[in-house]
Amino acid sequence: MRNIAVFASGNGSNFQAILDAVKAGVLDANVKLLVCDQPDAFAVERAKAEGVNFFAFRGKEYPNKQGYEQEILARLTEFEVDWIILAGYMRLIGPTLLSAFDGRIINIHPSLLPAFPGKDAMGQALAAKVKVSGVTVHFVDEGMDTGPIIAQETVEIAEDETIETLQNKIHQVEHQLYPAVIQMVLSSSRRNSK
Ligand code: GRF
Repeated sequence: MRNIAVFASGNGSNFQAILDAVKAGVLDANVKLLVCDQPDAFAVERAKAEGVNFFAFRGKEYPNKQGYEQEILARLTEFEVDWIILAGYMRLIGPTLLSAFDGRIINIHPSLLPAFPGKDAMGQALAAKVKVSGVTVHFVDEGMDTGPIIAQETVEIAEDETIETLQNKIHQVEHQLYPAVIQMVLSSSRRNSK
């Protein structure tokens, strides 16, 4: 069994999908901690409702990224976390966490990377008038949405697509894809570590 921490900044629907997959027996992991940089985010309410420990902080209350990442790292160590799962966490991961969790941080992004990295990926896709976008799950490196790709799934964009309709379609894909890919990554790392 692997211990995971989910990092989120907002609604936390992917966090919820991960919790639901664990409950359904589809994902063999312990969700030990939610890390959230927006104490008022709905993701924190989800953690409370589900009885998941959480660490909520405000970045501006620390001198720099190293300051809050050291505090996060202390929590991850306390909860014996093996893997970091980014799910809508709106901050770049810095050297403190990257070196401690080398190769054990994954992220989900709402586009077919390397297209449309960074913020507002769905708005970028609509503005570019592409016919197909999608979802990417990738390992995290020091860049913005640049690490090695693990899995991708496409989503078609209709003529009359709006940001809301696209977001719904993307979320539906994400909520299936992310737990399945996490399960795949965790189980292959278990095999490799034997
Ligand atoms: C998702 O679309 C994810 O791909 C992106 O941020 C969004 C988070 O949504 N990184 P939610 O907070 O999980 O609902």
